[in-house]
Amino acid sequence: MSEKNDLLKELENLKHAEVPQRSQEEITEEIEKLLKKMTFDEKICQLFQVYSSLFQETDSKNERVIKPKIKYNIGSILGAALSKGVYRIQKQFLENNRLKIPLLFMLDVIHGFRTTFPIPLGLSCTWNMELIEKLARVSAKEASVAGVCVTFSPMLDLVRDPRWGRVMESPGEDPYLGVEFAKAMVRGYQGDSLHRRDTIGACAKHYCAYGAAEGGRDYNTVDMSERRLRNFYLPAFKGAVDQGVTMFMTSFNIYDGIPTTINKFLFNKVLRDEWKFQGVVISDWTALKECIDHGAVKDIREAAKRAVESTMDIEMVSSAYIKNLKDLLEKGELNLSLIDDSVRRVLSLKYKLGLFDDPYRYIDIQGEKEILLCDKHRKIAREVARESFVLLKNENILPLDKNVKNIALIGPHANNKQINGAWSIMGNASDNISLKMGITKKLGEEVNIIYESGCSFKKNSKINVEKVKDAGEKADVIILALGEPEEMSGEAKSRGFITLPSPQEELSQIVLSIGKPTVLVLFNGRPLEIKDLVDNIPAILEVWFPGTEGGNAIADVLFGDYNPSGKLTMSFPYTIGQIPVYYNYYNTGRPFNPDDKIEGNYSNYIDIPNDPLYPFGFGLSYTTFEYSEIELNRTKMHSDEELKIKITVTNTGKFEGSEVVQMYIQDLYGSAVRPIKELKGFKKIILKPGEMQEVEFLITYDKLAFWNSEMKFVAEPGAFKVYIGTNSEDVREANFELIP
Ligand code: BGC
Repeated sequence: MSEKNDLLKELENLKHAEVPQRSQEEITEEIEKLLKKMTFDEKICQLFQVYSSLFQETDSKNERVIKPKIKYNIGSILGAALSKGVYRIQKQFLENNRLKIPLLFMLDVIHGFRTTFPIPLGLSCTWNMELIEKLARVSAKEASVAGVCVTFSPMLDLVRDPRWGRVMESPGEDPYLGVEFAKAMVRGYQGDSLHRRDTIGACAKHYCAYGAAEGGRDYNTVDMSERRLRNFYLPAFKGAVDQGVTMFMTSFNIYDGIPTTINKFLFNKVLRDEWKFQGVVISDWTALKECIDHGAVKDIREAAKRAVESTMDIEMVSSAYIKNLKDLLEKGELNLSLIDDSVRRVLSLKYKLGLFDDPYRYIDIQGEKEILLCDKHRKIAREVARESFVLLKNENILPLDKNVKNIALIGPHANNKQINGAWSIMGNASDNISLKMGITKKLGEEVNIIYESGCSFKKNSKINVEKVKDAGEKADVIILALGEPEEMSGEAKSRGFITLPSPQEELSQIVLSIGKPTVLVLFNGRPLEIKDLVDNIPAILEVWFPGTEGGNAIADVLFGDYNPSGKLTMSFPYTIGQIPVYYNYYNTGRPFNPDDKIEGNYSNYIDIPNDPLYPFGFGLSYTTFEYSEIELNRTKMHSDEELKIKITVTNTGKFEGSEVVQMYIQDLYGSAVRPIKELKGFKKIILKPGEMQEVEFLITYDKLAFWNSEMKFVAEPGAFKVYIGTNSEDVREANFELIP
């Protein structure tokens, strides 16, 4: 008891040392001095990351496995957060560490810290990069007072298969948007300098192509051409490097037959040689050990050797490095300089973060009290959440009238506070605003809200038909809140069916049979198969997992205090048999054209359409926007020239609203095939009713470049089309030519 009080006192009186901003030369000099003092064992331990439970006195199992000699020399910890815990661990560690090399604390701060923002798939649907940067900034501020100095975010895996549970962590199916998202997140976390105490290091993950797991089954085989990899899957990672990201994490999958964690092509060639990335690379959780199960190495010794040779610096949790590197060195099977380089990278990060000057730099118990989940952050969470919602359908029902007398609020999500979604590591459901709470707060107690969950998320849950009907019949309007429970998406949460979990479809039928105006609010971590619902329900609002302020944000949209502006970043399939379905596909030699009357064999299904239910970029508003024709300043451009494109957008409806104006390009032919459309620009604008705005885009050489038949990144002369519109299908078009 008194020990705990002493610790608290120490924390309250903790003074932070002034940390000088060192140049790279100074850091290098310090590191070289330190390296000379370090033993083999000490070096190897820097490359070992363990879970924070190792430092819990009660964790006797770990104590037995990891000897103090290793425990007090390791380089970094994952999973620890909040001042008390981090302080205790760092203090205990430094008291026992010979060279006083501080520990580095890392955590999965994925969509917020204590204040939880919508899941990343939802964040990307805002198409608002300033807002995304802002929420990453808030996350960094909260995490950095609680002892965290590096986050395992942003996740940048391009996704095309909603069966994969981790699509919720991704910015969706488009490489261009992926780059913008990557940069905004890294800018937000890292600010303009890692030296600032309220910034944290960002980590681009999972490198790479993890989102292409066959059949959408997590951890499954990935196999694709280098061209597809470079054109689609790599750009977001390159964007993160260009923005100065601190760290990279490997992925669990293989690429071209070799687990990414030991893949020289991905690391030595692309990341280090081509992109000149000099930061730290960390394996994913036990990914190095898993190379054995992949059947790519004989044992962990070989895995360790190949990982070091692929410049993989820190091994997360498994122990291939600490068990084998010394032996590999002593037997001359590994070059010490490779290990030294890895250690240099890790130590350099510790210097940049200021940990050598002040190992307690990221600990601020007073700051925790002041800013975690503060009103200002909650306000931002509400702002972000409502901007992430996508209005999928609205037959003149929304926004609802605030003077409504009786509302039936039905469904397992109607009063559910578990709406953070996976990877909300410090978020607490008890702080969240459920939909019922949000609506009650907005409309006041005078409105009669008849709440009925209808069923639970359990498969065999029974629907109380009478109660549901009774609630619906008494109401002027029904709000039906359905979807996945939050534990249904995330890591290892692949689904074979992506419909609403049973018995919610049945519940929706019962509700619809009541015959009252009904709005469906959908909570989920992935695009769902909802075509039957869409036919029957007049309004659908997609809210993903909206986080702490979810209920308030949904109420804002339902009752017209915010006009929805989110646009899908991942196509909603018509049915599961279409998967993968995405907008930037190749034409094929027999492209399907529904207007083509000539009989023939086309690339289509005989029983379902080719088009998704909702395409990439789709999202409605309470107002309407009209697009003019496209104007080009020239129709031919040389490689060193720019093409200016203009379009006028007019708000033709009755509400003020935001519109994401999207520009796509099609290269009509190339030495290797080109997608039918590729996003190459977007602008989010706000227009009052009747207002119009001219929106301008620039086309430059790099926007036309691709990895061609000779695997060179070039733009090839020829004919192009440019499309501008409100989503990837509803567009205006114009032609231009790139001339040599
Ligand atoms: C996940 C990573 C995560 C890591 C550490 C792994 O299972 O794939 O995304 O950063 O765990 O928590």
